[in-house]
Amino acid sequence: MQALARLLESIKLIAINNPTQDNQVCQYSVSCTFFCCPSSEETKVKITPVENKSFGAIVTGANIGALRDADFAAIEAALLDRGFLVFSELFPSDDDTIAFAKNFGELEFAVVPFLSNQDANADGTPGVVYDINSQRMRMILGNETWHTDSTYKPYSSKCAMLSAVVVPEQGGGTGLADMRAGYAALDQATKDRIADLAAYHSNLYSQANDLGDFPAVQEGTIYHGEAYLRPLVKVHPQTGVKNLFIGRHAFGVPGLSRAESRALLKSLLDFVVADEARVYEHNYRPGDLLVWDNRALLHRALPYDYTQPRTVIGTRVAGEDSEFTYHPTDPEAAAGREALATELALLRGETQDRRYKATMAPDSVAAL
Ligand SMILES: [Fe+2]
Repeated sequence: MQALARLLESIKLIAINNPTQDNQVCQYSVSCTFFCCPSSEETKVKITPVENKSFGAIVTGANIGALRDADFAAIEAALLDRGFLVFSELFPSDDDTIAFAKNFGELEFAVVPFLSNQDANADGTPGVVYDINSQRMRMILGNETWHTDSTYKPYSSKCAMLSAVVVPEQGGGTGLADMRAGYAALDQATKDRIADLAAYHSNLYSQANDLGDFPAVQEGTIYHGEAYLRPLVKVHPQTGVKNLFIGRHAFGVPGLSRAESRALLKSLLDFVVADEARVYEHNYRPGDLLVWDNRALLHRALPYDYTQPRTVIGTRVAGEDSEFTYHPTDPEAAAGREALATELALLRGETQDRRYKATMAPDSVAAL
């Protein structure tokens, strides 16, 4: 009876969370929020939805370095359905993390330490903790505002993972927001208003706007001078579910004034995160692995005492055709460059009151 009750609860949760998805997705999602058996092969992977939230699940019993087809099918279905997955105290090796991530697609980068505030020395001992004024810390602090990874590149990210090695005493976690549930809860007038709108995305914009940080503009880095236009409403390529595709990198909605654009983007974000059922904060224990779907959620880093070491290992799966906008060499890129240049010129005069007071980090390479 208890098992039946759990299954019924899973069905109810999915019906609430995913009102527009088709039967096929719903069918395998139902099985995967319980015990997933997408094929005749049995899986020992157990997936438990996070309580009182519209999204998220805890995964146990997964050997991520050597997943069988049925295990990966269960995990992928759960990620599509629940948006993020927590593997508690897994202590994944680099090789296991890479093998796991490759199941989802081509990697944008793998097992990099650059979201940490401390690197290892050549001999493996911990290096010094980065100064708060360094470009590394400016980038890390920028990540504390809601965003989707790599929307400032021609291909935005498919999904991402972060594993914790050294965690500070307090804070330093990751917040996540369910943009599917957020979109579904919008009133019809707002849905109609934003249906055909888009926004430019740039990391130069978000660093300036959030922090008053003006990194050197350099081609081939994340601080290039391009801005990529993306719809405000993204249809998830695998589930067909719509979500709000916004966040800190988004600015300059074409067709709206600057003030209207800023107000709209802010009001949409504020609306989503106002309901605590659509927001989750994961506080890491060493060894935890967090995976999130960048095509359905926003996330942000949570603050901590920056003098304490925080070592995390990041891996990002590249987006596919559904995450592509245009290349810098394409004719439509010119409008984005122009919008960004105009926006940055205005922000230079408006961000003296932000953390870095409209400055460039001492270690930011001068623009060529
Ligand atoms: Fe991120």
